[in-house]
Amino acid sequence: MKILLLTGPGGDAQGWGDMSVTESVAAAVESAGHDARTAFVETEDAFRQALETGGFDLVWSSLYHISPNEKFIGRNEVGLWVADALDERGIPYVGSDSRTMKNMIDKFATHTILARSGVPVPGHRLARPGDNLGGVSYPAFVKPMCESRSVGISDESVVADEGELRRRMDYIAREFDEAALVEDFLPGDEYTVLLLGNGTDRQCLPGRVKVEDKHFGKYNILRSDLRGVGLTRIYDAGERGEEAAALAGRAAEAMGCLDHVRIDLKADAAGELRIMEVNGIPGLKPRKSWAPQLYTLFYASPLGEMEDYRNLIRDIINSAWGRASESPSK
Ligand SMILES: Nc1ncnc2c1ncn2[C@@H]1O[C@H](COP(=O)(O)OP(=O)(O)OP(=O)(O)O)[C@@H](O)[C@H]1O
Ligand SMILES: [Mg+2]
Repeated sequence: MKILLLTGPGGDAQGWGDMSVTESVAAAVESAGHDARTAFVETEDAFRQALETGGFDLVWSSLYHISPNEKFIGRNEVGLWVADALDERGIPYVGSDSRTMKNMIDKFATHTILARSGVPVPGHRLARPGDNLGGVSYPAFVKPMCESRSVGISDESVVADEGELRRRMDYIAREFDEAALVEDFLPGDEYTVLLLGNGTDRQCLPGRVKVEDKHFGKYNILRSDLRGVGLTRIYDAGERGEEAAALAGRAAEAMGCLDHVRIDLKADAAGELRIMEVNGIPGLKPRKSWAPQLYTLFYASPLGEMEDYRNLIRDIINSAWGRASESPSK
């Protein structure tokens, strides 16, 4: 099979990683017996051109949407979403459809869908500068509505009163030009679950996310400076693994996720697990990203982590291709 790997300036911020990660994915695709071609697209025209040139059976994109922005994801109200363009042309691709991708990027939409399906999420609301903020309970946690990699998250994300909340909302509006998502603060342990495959074949692989206590400041939260530097590691989820996996499975079902997503959870003040977010294009840095670490936790090969990585990539492709061969329109 011929697979087109799609990336661009936003590949790291939006999806699985930068060019070196794309090269790792390409090498793993090749070792699974497929051909990999990479298109680095900086503009919507370049993206359309890459699609029109053809010569591939399946697309795998590290981008939700085409954007010159290297730092942030954003909502992209006007620009082109990759899954929309692929659906329009009937091209099969890895991952969820466009509606689900958009809902996963928008953490407020995710919470709305999950809450409606009875899946536990933290109490939440959107807030923009100037809004009436009565009814918020403190401590609250304030984050950008559409970002990833803990961008915009520091100890200042935990606010104790309306003054602190307004200062953090102003920061988010200024830095990201986004509404702030205000959630109940979750003080407990953190988990993440890799979901692989579809329907009754879907596997939910849970892990506990840990950072050495000495790296935390005031709160046990994954600040942006703790991400991408090898300080967070995935461990056996222990006695709460099954529960985390079951919740993540319900969340993936409610959202309509396909092929592979990673779902993050944290325990609230009463110890109940709540879903923080659903990542539609999980990071795929060999060894470092959480998805490959979760895979290794369950399927460690005697040949080592790089072999696990290749197997993970193979499983993701098989999941997408299995769907595509069942229904020619996907
Ligand atoms: N309501 C909350 N209460 C306490 N901590 C939180 C809350 N929401 C998020 N966090 C902390 O902030 C981190 C990042 O939040 P979240 O997972 O929502 O965003 P992200 O930047 O999209 O993450 P990712 O890199 O996994 O895509 C979490 O891993 C967690 O440690
Ligand atoms: Mg997260």
